[in-house]
Amino acid sequence: MKAPGTEAPRGRGRIVERRTIVVTRRLPGVPWDDMATRFRAGDPPTEGTMPREEFLARARGASGILCTLADRVDAELMDAAGSSLSVVSNFAVGVNNVDVVEAIRRGIRVCNTPDVLTDATADLGFALLLSAARKVSDADRFVRAGDWTGWDPWGFLGVPVAGKTLGIVGMGKIGAAVARRSRGFSMKVLYHNRRRIPPSEEAELAASYRDLDALLAESDFVVLCVPLTPETRGLISPERLGRMKRTAVLVNIARGEVVDEEAVATALAEGRLFGAGLDVFEKEPRIHPRLLSAPSAVLLPHLGSATGETREAMGRLATENLLAVLDGREPPCPVN
Ligand code: DGY
Repeated sequence: MKAPGTEAPRGRGRIVERRTIVVTRRLPGVPWDDMATRFRAGDPPTEGTMPREEFLARARGASGILCTLADRVDAELMDAAGSSLSVVSNFAVGVNNVDVVEAIRRGIRVCNTPDVLTDATADLGFALLLSAARKVSDADRFVRAGDWTGWDPWGFLGVPVAGKTLGIVGMGKIGAAVARRSRGFSMKVLYHNRRRIPPSEEAELAASYRDLDALLAESDFVVLCVPLTPETRGLISPERLGRMKRTAVLVNIARGEVVDEEAVATALAEGRLFGAGLDVFEKEPRIHPRLLSAPSAVLLPHLGSATGETREAMGRLATENLLAVLDGREPPCPVN
């Protein structure tokens, strides 16, 4: 049986539903052509973030929105869509770009893409940790610049990883996957989380709970895996950075706003932090100029989930979330 409001007028030689969907850009794993044969979907999505004005215009009267972390879905956007909007399906695990409280108030389902990106994101966290520890990016730039004149016993001296202490802030699925990877490096694992994880999980991960300040003071590597919430915004403040060891490395695979970027740039410049591996930034795609010029910072363009397989899986899941709600089924990954 069809969901209400889906009686089928004929359009351009094919059956289309009355309902409108918006897919904000061309995305791996999202079968836009199939969806456009069923719903009113407008022009095919293109590369790049949809300009705000276009997003607002296209959202008018939409029942479903499939968007990315670069699209702001706030009260203004929900107003533009109107009462027809029933689902916002985010192509990301983080939903800080969506005003979830406002969505709940309006009865709009918000969905995300967890699990399928856990390993890819944890891999990237470890890649950043190793790159920052061993100055991989800086040394690569040096070689490409033609500056290498021969083996140098003093060149690009890093910090060791094996046997050191890893502090994981945010022991969700990604944090746990980072902890598992650290076994190969015989690292001691500390973690901080809103709530302590059950003792059986602590034992499985060989991870010991610390309050945040103690974790920062004891760790050689700190990896941030928390979602962005009002509580985690600015979590790594100048004072907290000041608690870290001078030989420590900070890795951020969470959201840029969790860290005070200015303070990280200053700590690196003053030698109060050995290195930083950052995949996310406060004002993406803009990066603090002093981070750009810090040789001990490894900077990536938000690549956490960037493997072909992962992005395809995210697209399939985001599509299934959208269609499930529109078809009156429970979506696989609801946030609310
Ligand atoms: C997410 O899904 O939230 C990631 O940041 C995307 O790479």
